[in-house]
Amino acid sequence: MRIIRTIDELRDASRSAASIGLVPTMGALHEGHLSLVRAARAENELVVVSVFVNPTQFNDPADLAAYPRTEARDADLAASAGADLVFAPNAAEMYPEGHATSVHVTGPITEVLEGASRPGHFDGVATVVAKLLIAAQATRAYFGQKDAQQLLVVQRLVRDLRLPTEIVPCPTSRETDGLARSSRNERLSAPDRAVALAIPRALAAAAVVLAAGETRASALVSTVTGVLAEAGLEPEYVAIVDPETLVRRVTVEAPVLCAIATRVGDVRLIDNEILVPAGG
Ligand code: PAF
Repeated sequence: MRIIRTIDELRDASRSAASIGLVPTMGALHEGHLSLVRAARAENELVVVSVFVNPTQFNDPADLAAYPRTEARDADLAASAGADLVFAPNAAEMYPEGHATSVHVTGPITEVLEGASRPGHFDGVATVVAKLLIAAQATRAYFGQKDAQQLLVVQRLVRDLRLPTEIVPCPTSRETDGLARSSRNERLSAPDRAVALAIPRALAAAAVVLAAGETRASALVSTVTGVLAEAGLEPEYVAIVDPETLVRRVTVEAPVLCAIATRVGDVRLIDNEILVPAGG
């Protein structure tokens, strides 16, 4: 697997390809990332996986320090899923001395949920994703629905900046027991891993309540918080929102996004599902 470190090398590599599929990651690759790489492989001549633990999107220095870094393994896994190149720049390459430009997406899609819990997070994400899409001259870029809000932010910035990249949303990849795949799962102790299963259980319970005819968002939130509480979890948020605008819904007459953030031990996990009302 070829690992390149500079934007100039990335531009040179992508110049001759008819189509470039980019899978932006922060490394610690798992099956969820690999499903994105496979999707990219099926549609593009050149497949690039970027591996960059982006410091500007972490609002908690301890979280940044604890983020797993497994580059050699990542390169092998990316190759096994069909990637051609790994782009693994260092922080000085992405943010050289004097770097002063940032991409800021305004409105509810960056202010609520993760935006409210992690101030500045989406400025960091939007800035690094814009830089990666431009550097790779990406024809298509692949993002998981697990980070539903991130996906909306990226779609917005691509539309607003008229970047010539198609954003391809991919379904959340789950372990067989339902836990959404995340690089953070590696940090869960075995007992906490079992407790974390309350998250997909809570989403499933909300889907059942909705399918049975409940239309009050508050009742869905109670169902979710109830299942989490049984497992001893106190969520940072449980939200029932419009899947496109992330504006809170009071009643559920059309599909909604049910989003959860909670700490399990000292690991912060997020998950979501689109819930469809009865007859919806
Ligand atoms: O989802 C991630 O891993 C990151 O937020 C991304 C998109 C690679 C930007 O750093």
